[in-house]
Amino acid sequence: MRWKGLLEEYKEYLPINESTPMLTLNEGNTPLIKLEKLSAEWGVELYVKTEGTNPTGSFKDRGMVMAVAKAKEEGNSTVICASTGNTSAAAAAYATRAGMRCIVVIPEGKIAMGKLAQAVMYGAEIIAIEGNFDQALQMVRKISETEPVALVNSVNPYRLEGQKTAAFELCDQLGGAPDILAIPVGNAGNISAYWKGFKEYHEVKQTGLPKIHGFEAAGAAAIVHNRVFENPETIATAIRIGNPASWKLAVQAQEESNGIIDEVTDEEIVAAYRAIAAKEGVFAEPGSCASIAGVYKHIQNGKIPKGSKIVAILTGNGLKDPNTAIDVSPLKPVVLPNDEKAVANHIKGVVHI
Ligand code: F0G
Repeated sequence: MRWKGLLEEYKEYLPINESTPMLTLNEGNTPLIKLEKLSAEWGVELYVKTEGTNPTGSFKDRGMVMAVAKAKEEGNSTVICASTGNTSAAAAAYATRAGMRCIVVIPEGKIAMGKLAQAVMYGAEIIAIEGNFDQALQMVRKISETEPVALVNSVNPYRLEGQKTAAFELCDQLGGAPDILAIPVGNAGNISAYWKGFKEYHEVKQTGLPKIHGFEAAGAAAIVHNRVFENPETIATAIRIGNPASWKLAVQAQEESNGIIDEVTDEEIVAAYRAIAAKEGVFAEPGSCASIAGVYKHIQNGKIPKGSKIVAILTGNGLKDPNTAIDVSPLKPVVLPNDEKAVANHIKGVVHI
């Protein structure tokens, strides 16, 4: 059967009525992949849910399909958001799909190239400010109060409604909740959405509840240090956020689940980023890899026991940020003359049987 997208597939769990447009780019239904090598190396059972396989390459599609559908239902013709890149890509795509306009406000020079390419191609009105995400979000929140535009950042509750469906899928794929759910934390919407999803599914289907381990980038670790970071900085631009909007909900998810919110350094993020690509064939953007970096850290320091069943969320596709991939990779193409002998000789030197 053809997968029909989140609104259709999960309509009984979502705020959908007769006048909700059944918007879709056939988002959801993302793979759950076992990382065989890292599981064996680390003595755990580790899976990743590759949210980068969604239509615009990140988990944002889950929330955006719901938020844009509701904005349309309520009679809006324009949506607006602040973004570190993925939200803007998803908002622009779904707004286009719904026949609406989209305005995005981004931190100038601090969004990955692939994400900017998407906003341009989907035809959004793009405003780059000389400021960070937190400042952009503050602006669009204010503007949406007075102007006839619908705010589709994750402070819009419909976003979390859509995003909670990832927890449902994961339970169905794994036959129940894992012991640990590891997830990157930026604006803290997704961690809150997953916890909501696990609780709702458990109530209906007794799927169990995981401990939620959320990971911020060390240069943007507001929740971990319980203070706003005025100038957040990290290589993982997706989660370069110093004052998360869903701060309280994230702490609630951590407390209720008996989990942990911790931080990982850029070095740890890059190591995880390279490891899952080079060892497992899974390419996720740096921000996503905060989850894997965190899993490794917590196995090392005993906060995740050996033998645990873990699902790490890979929130965005590696192709979103080609520049960082090239920058951190030691492998560069070997340049040779257009000469079969020279190429053959080189290959003989590198092939070991
Ligand atoms: N991973 C990726 C790839 C993201 O793009 C984001 C957030 C997160 C993790 C964190 O999720 O904010 O719900 O805690 N990106 C937002 C954006 C802020 O504008 O695209 P969160």
